[in-house]
Amino acid sequence: MPAPVLAPLTVKDLDEVAVIENVSFTAPWPTSAYTTELTTNRLARYVGARMSGTLVGFGGIWLMVDEAHVTTMAVLPANRRSGVATVLLLELLQEARRGGARVATLDVRVSNVDAQRLYLAFGFIEVGRRIRYYDDNGEDALVMTTAELESPAQLAIEAALRARVQERFGHE
Ligand SMILES: CC(C)(COP(=O)(O)OP(=O)(O)OC[C@H]1O[C@@H](n2cnc3c(N)ncnc32)[C@H](O)[C@@H]1OP(=O)(O)O)[C@@H](O)C(=O)NCCC(=O)NCCS
Repeated sequence: MPAPVLAPLTVKDLDEVAVIENVSFTAPWPTSAYTTELTTNRLARYVGARMSGTLVGFGGIWLMVDEAHVTTMAVLPANRRSGVATVLLLELLQEARRGGARVATLDVRVSNVDAQRLYLAFGFIEVGRRIRYYDDNGEDALVMTTAELESPAQLAIEAALRARVQERFGHE
């Protein structure tokens, strides 16, 4: 399997982003929201992953002073469970460190157990709940956070995941 090639998302990627978004979420973000994110939100960092030229996944963070908030993460169904989100999240957490973030946080639907497993593998733990947070179905959000990004424990988790990725793809 070819290794995913990472690059910052640009507006040229947004047709492919829409394809992934629409098959991944019950309440997809419109392309206009991504355009705003990429062109006017100076806190936003979005990364895409390509395999054989096709965008197979993307994710993003907002760098809010000492906190990096994971805004989204999605992978084409055909490419799931092959480590693409892991590669993306490793890069986003590195970007968070480069941006001076102390911890990373995110919100995830209580029903989204698959995504929660990914985040648990990265050391995110549940620290709270936003009641009826999602407008489309009134579902709660779990609030999750990492340990300090520079803590030995967090760095060890990511080093182990990076080693698995390198084993899987030959290189990251
Ligand atoms: C969640 C999502 C981004 C994961 O992407 P992915 O590329 O398949 O994830 P990875 O292959 O890197 O998985 C890493 C680990 O996460 C966990 N995981 C991911 N998907 C899982 C699933 N369907 N079932 C169980 N565990 C899962 C596993 O521990 C997995 O490691 P393993 O495959 O070695 O067991 C993808 O399923 C997706 O796009 N879902 C729809 C959109 C979404 O829910 N996004 C998150 C919003 S908060």
